[in-house]
Order: sequence, then structure tokens, then C-alpha cells
Amino acid sequence: MDILDKVRSFREEENKLKWEGTFAEYLDVVKKRKEVAQTAHSRVYNMIKSSGLIERDGKRLYQFFGEEIFGLEDAIERLVEEYFHPAAKRLDVRKRILLLMGPVSGGKSTIVTLLKRGLESYSRTDEGAVYAIKGCPMHEDPLHLIPQHLRHDFYETYGIRIEGSLSPLNTMRLEKEYGGEIENVLVERIFFSEDKRVGIGTFTPSDPKSQDIADLTGSIDFSTIAEFGSESDPRAYRFDGELNKANRGMMEFQEMLKLDEKFLWHLLSLTQEGNFKAGRFALISADELIVAHTNETEYRTFISNKKNEALHSRIIVMPIPYNLKVSQEERIYEKMIKESDMAHVHIAPHALRVAAIFSVLTRLEDSKKQGLDVVKKMRLYDGENVEGFNQVDVEELKKEFPNEGMHGIDPRYVINRISSAIIRKEVPSINALDVLRALKDGLDQHASISQEDREKYMNYIAIARREFDEIAKKEVQKAFVYSYEESAITLMNNYLDNVEAYCNKNRLRDPLTGEEMNPDEKLMRSIEEQIGISENAKKAFREEILIRISAYARKGKRFDYRSHDRLREAIQKKLFADLKDVVKITTSSQTPDESQLKKINEVVARLIDEYGYNSTSANELLRYVGSLLNR
Ligand SMILES: Nc1ncnc2c1ncn2[C@@H]1O[C@H](COP(=O)(O)OP(=O)(O)O)[C@@H](O)[C@H]1O
Ligand SMILES: [Mg+2]
Repeated sequence: MDILDKVRSFREEENKLKWEGTFAEYLDVVKKRKEVAQTAHSRVYNMIKSSGLIERDGKRLYQFFGEEIFGLEDAIERLVEEYFHPAAKRLDVRKRILLLMGPVSGGKSTIVTLLKRGLESYSRTDEGAVYAIKGCPMHEDPLHLIPQHLRHDFYETYGIRIEGSLSPLNTMRLEKEYGGEIENVLVERIFFSEDKRVGIGTFTPSDPKSQDIADLTGSIDFSTIAEFGSESDPRAYRFDGELNKANRGMMEFQEMLKLDEKFLWHLLSLTQEGNFKAGRFALISADELIVAHTNETEYRTFISNKKNEALHSRIIVMPIPYNLKVSQEERIYEKMIKESDMAHVHIAPHALRVAAIFSVLTRLEDSKKQGLDVVKKMRLYDGENVEGFNQVDVEELKKEFPNEGMHGIDPRYVINRISSAIIRKEVPSINALDVLRALKDGLDQHASISQEDREKYMNYIAIARREFDEIAKKEVQKAFVYSYEESAITLMNNYLDNVEAYCNKNRLRDPLTGEEMNPDEKLMRSIEEQIGISENAKKAFREEILIRISAYARKGKRFDYRSHDRLREAIQKKLFADLKDVVKITTSSQTPDESQLKKINEVVARLIDEYGYNSTSANELLRYVGSLLNR
């Protein structure tokens, strides 16, 4: 579909969702669909729930965050179940500012953005629909029109509790525009949108001297004072601060604790009483989720200041640590690269994995458990079982350091290092070693890493490098044995021919020259030695195999190299042993001969087709493994 067609059809969809009616008509909607009258907190919780929930190993994974946030299942579970869920039930936490506290680039802003984008689309669904008094800059809840003394009745009839009082502006509009007849007040469906400033507000600290409280609570509209005669006429006031605009939805305070105190105090009454003061008006009721984020240092400074005590008690802190799972860390990098202008760069297999190993290691605490070094712990956290420990131990290990993951290397640092490696390399292709080198160089330049940490980190780079060496060797060997099956069959047939001749005391005939020859003792022994068959035991082993073959033949079954376990093992080991030399020689030869060249080309082709390399990275890998095997 043409892009303009898409825009058009989107607009049509939007138009279909629109609704406008009188308050009387709105009450019919409410009667049928109580959820339209839910609080902001309840809407957020239902939105999260509506994306689905997977229960696995006694943990609940909220799908809402699953596509964007990786490896933070515990933190998210806690966030939903200790904040959003009780807040939706109007419990006290709702009256507190939700403060996400965690290390830099740990995903705090991403979580908040997900909530915002989520609300925008949720408000366009049936279950998430929101209605407001038409023409109100704060999209006030229409139910505020119901006078206080009738609210109890309303609750009895509809089962809906109404909180907050009609704003000064709408109180005046009700009188002037509707002659006090609430049933005629116009109501419309609204759609949350950060761009249009509907139901979503954001506040970022800037220079405290120039930052104006009006940014939060709106300001007098001097151009209309003359018309309305007084500053205290609500029509002469612009209710366009972030707190006004975020009404019914959510409000984000970026780096909240950097804010000047005078801003924070406004939040006290908003959270506690659900209202705030603007201009010369009575308190304005607002229903919004307030989310803020900060790092640990700022948070500690903040709580150590006695002056902040009152505010402190109005905050609920949710830790958002770094991810501690290597495979999830890889996904974070993949996502970040996809979103960046490096998306076209070829990233060789395992390049992100080594970076992930490094970062996760920098975040882990050393366990005091016997026999559990940090590498084992890393594997265990990523879902592998390691010698002496399995997944059952993970929960217990986590209790050893409840604050684990609050420091270490952050994902953005890694991505920056990768991008600088790409710039340096000129070819749009980068491998694991390039990444490790870039990370290492970065440590030298990184001013905020202490000498002690630097040494530790260097060691982690060495660990990541060793992990990569193992992976690389295995990968190349696998790529060399494309025709593994075929080679195994040929080798076995050759062996059996010789065994037969040996046992029957025959000679063999060379298939090419027709010349007679003795059984190839060297070949037979080279295979048998792989499984530790001694010179004395060889005769018995060979005869046993012949007996097995004839037993198979009698039953009309085909004997192949899998028909005898020990023989199979011997053949396999022999193939790998031979291969090691081939790999070594082929990959490290400066001037490969014709057949080596052919083999190299084959292997490169396989690395490209089946393992995800490109020709640059495949050749780099072969060269590297060659040098490893020659050490
Ligand atoms: N656990 C995670 N899952 C997915 N992405 C993450 C995670 N942690 C960090 N990121 C990514 O790292 C970058 C920085 O995260 P951000 O949300 O801005 O961190 P913060 O606000 O905590 O400083 C973003 O691109 C984000 O997507
Ligand atoms: Mg942030």
C-alpha cells in the first residue's frame, strides 16, 4: 500500500473511534462499560495485563515489556506486583511517586517510554477508552460533574467511586455555557498522545533559575485578562502545564532528584491528596500516574538530606538493575544496533556474545560459595547448569547480594565502543576480536573507572577472549567436517577390509594397481588406539567385529559404523584427530596448495551459508583459529 493510502486509512480508523455526546449519553456508556471510568493507575495496570502473562518456573513474565526489555523479569515482576497492581486497586501506593532507581543506561527510560507508547495505543482500544469533558484543557473526568452530595447514590447505583472535584474552569463553564445543566455538558472520547499533549506529560530538569513552575501547573494568560477582568477568572488562565496535560494518564519526571525543590513540593499534595495548586484557584484535582527515575548516588544524597523527609515518604522506590544474563545482554545489543545507523554493518557471529560476557562479568558480585567462580556464576545465571550447581541454586545465590547489578559496564558504553571499532575498521564488518579490542582500548580512556576496577575488567576481557577461542575452534572444526558422515563411512570400510584380511590371513588387492598388499597395520592401530585397545587386545577386538558383522548378515541387516558403539567412537575420534591437523595446516598455511585452497573455499562457503559469517569475517575466523592451533 502506498504510504499516503496508509495515512488515509489510519485517519479513517481514528475517525471511527471518535465519540461525542452529552453527559446523559455518556452515563449510558458508563453503565454498559464500567472500565471507561477507571482511574489512571487502574488503566495502566490493565494495559500491562492485556498484553498477556506467561508463567514459567514460578515466575510471571509480563509480555508488555517482553519485546523491549530483556533480562529484567524479576524487577518487572516486582514493579507490576508491588506497584501497579495494588495501585490499580486504589491502595495507598497509588498516592506515591513511582521512582525507578538504577544505574545509567539500565533501561529506566525505556520502561517509561513503553508505558507512554502503550497508553497511547491502549486509549484507542475498547477496553482502554477514555472520555473527558469536551473542550477542557485538562481532559477532566466527566464524572466530576456529579455533585458531591449525590456521589454516594451514584456509587450505590453504578458501583463506581468518584474522586476529585470539578475544576474551577469547568465549574464556571457549567454555569456560563450549560446553565448548570450537567446532563447537557458535552463529553468526548480522547486519545492519549504525548505529541498532542493529551494524557501524557514529561518534565525534564533544566537550569533551575530559568525553570518556571508554570511549566508544571500552567500560567496566567495575560492576553485575556482584559477580556475577563480578573486574574482569578479561570478563563484567563492557561491550564497547560505538564501536570495539567498529564491528567488521566501519566507524568514522567526525568532525573527527578535533579529538580529544584520548589517543583518537588507540588508533587507532595498531588500524590497525597490527588490535587495541586495553580494560580489563584482552588485546588485542582488530577488523576495521574507519576513516574520518575534517578540513579543510586542521587537517591542516596536525596534521602540523606533531612529536608526531604516528607517527600521521601511519598516515594516508592523500585530498583531497576542491569540485566545479568549473557544471552539477554546479546539481545539488548542486537536491538540497539538495529535501532542505530550501524544496522547495515556485518556483525560476525559471537561478536556480541563476547561483549555480553564481558559486561555481565563486570556486574556480578563474587559469591562466597565454595567452588563457584564468577564464570560459573555467569553461566548459571544464564540458565546453564554447571558443575556442582543448578538452577535451583540461582534463587539462593541472588539472595547473597540483593543489590547485585547496580554497577558495572552499561549497554550504551558497549554499543559506543562497537561503533568506534566500526569506524576504525573501514570495512562494514566487525568480529569478536575487534569488539574485545575496542572494549579494552575504551577502558584505558575511561576516566571514571578506578584502577582496581580496571584490572578486574582487563581480566574479564581475557576471560571473554578464552570463551571465544573455544567457540571459534569448535565452529571451524564443525565447518570442516561437512561430509562427516561420508568420511566416517569411508574410513570404516577401509578399516573393515583390513580387519577381514588380517583375521583370514589374506592379502588385500590395491583397487587401482591391482597389486597385492599386506593389511595396513598402522591404519588399524591408529583407529584402535583412539579407544585404548592395547596391542594384546587387538586380535580379540578385530574378531569380535567380524562376528558382529556376520551376525548382522545372517539377520539380513546392514552393518554400518553405528552398529558397534566402540567402533563408532573410535572412528569419530580418529576423524577429529586427523581433522585437527588438516584444520591446523589448512588454516595456517601461508601459501596453500591447490587442494588446501579448495578446502578453504569450501569451509568459507559453509561458514557463510550455514553459520552467518560474511566472507571477511569467515576468513578472519579461519586465520585466527589457524594461529590458535599453532600455539
Ligand atoms: N534490560 C534491558 N533491556 C533492553 N534494553 C535495554 C536494557 N537495559 C538497557 N537497555 C537499552 O540501553 C539503552 C539505554 O537505556 P535507557 O532506558 O535510556 O536507560 P536509563 O534511562 O536507565 O539510563 C536503551 O537503548 C535501552 O533500550
Ligand atoms: Mg534515562
